[in-house]
Amino acid sequence: MWSQGIHARSGVTCADCHLPYMRNGATKISDHWVRSPLLNVNRACQNCHHVSEKELLARVDGIQDKNYKLLQRVGAALMDQIDAILKAKKDGATEEQLKASLELQRKAQWRIDFIAAENSMGFHAPQEAARILGDAIDYARQGEVAALKWVTFPPYVFPAAEGTPSMDSDLADDQKTPIDSTPQEGASHTPSADSPSANPAATPVTSDSNDA
Ligand code: HEC
Ligand code: HEC
Repeated sequence: MWSQGIHARSGVTCADCHLPYMRNGATKISDHWVRSPLLNVNRACQNCHHVSEKELLARVDGIQDKNYKLLQRVGAALMDQIDAILKAKKDGATEEQLKASLELQRKAQWRIDFIAAENSMGFHAPQEAARILGDAIDYARQGEVAALKWVTFPPYVFPAAEGTPSMDSDLADDQKTPIDSTPQEGASHTPSADSPSANPAATPVTSDSNDA
């Protein structure tokens, strides 16, 4: 994730921000407490960014706020999809008829979990985080439509055409590395017939998620 951001592309490493050096007389020693760089913007950022602390914090806040709002919208989309799936089941839809929707739900959930688990709230790679969440909203809404149209919906065939990547082939290699709390393709996270809503959005959902 971080590797997709401007800092990585500019050669800034984790330690530059998370373990900034402290001056101690003539010796340079590492400030080895791993903690939020935002608690010490002076050492973590201002070596490189010659703008005020207030300005830097405002930039980070702007990035994280957008990320948060997008996460809320993804959560809302996924909830709507799950409602549609539950309704379809109640109305008699079979597993087969909901296959497309369930698969799309899984793709959306995987992306939400990935971003939620990443922890920097979008800061490490704002554009990449937004791209992944944008995909998640699209999958959840497509899945909602599929669940609403279950009576007529044909068996879903995933497009094999170029430009329509599968589960995670559109993610950079480092993003495919398993992260503890992130379900991977083929993991036991596949929604079952009995629990289409298993572990819905790991993030809180608010009703005013449209005001971004
Ligand atoms: C340009 C500075 C910068 C770089 C480079 C950077 N980070 Fe971060 N990182 C941040 C900021 C800012 C946050 C958000 C902190 C906050 O919201 O309080 C953060 C958050 C985190 C968090 C969550 C911290 C927490 O308190 O939960 C982790 C873990 C993390 N970074 C690891 C890494 C790793 C590993 C790398 C290298 C691959 C890296 N960071 C590179 C600035 C940076
Ligand atoms: C080792 C140098 C270095 C450090 C340390 C560093 N940055 Fe950066 N930062 C850069 C460079 C280089 C860029 C890219 C600037 C460009 O190419 O326009 C950048 C870009 C940014 C951007 C613009 C990001 C974007 O996607 O447009 C923000 C915001 C930012 N840094 C905030 C921070 C914060 C906050 C910290 C401390 C937690 C920090 N930086 C630490 C070098 C650094």
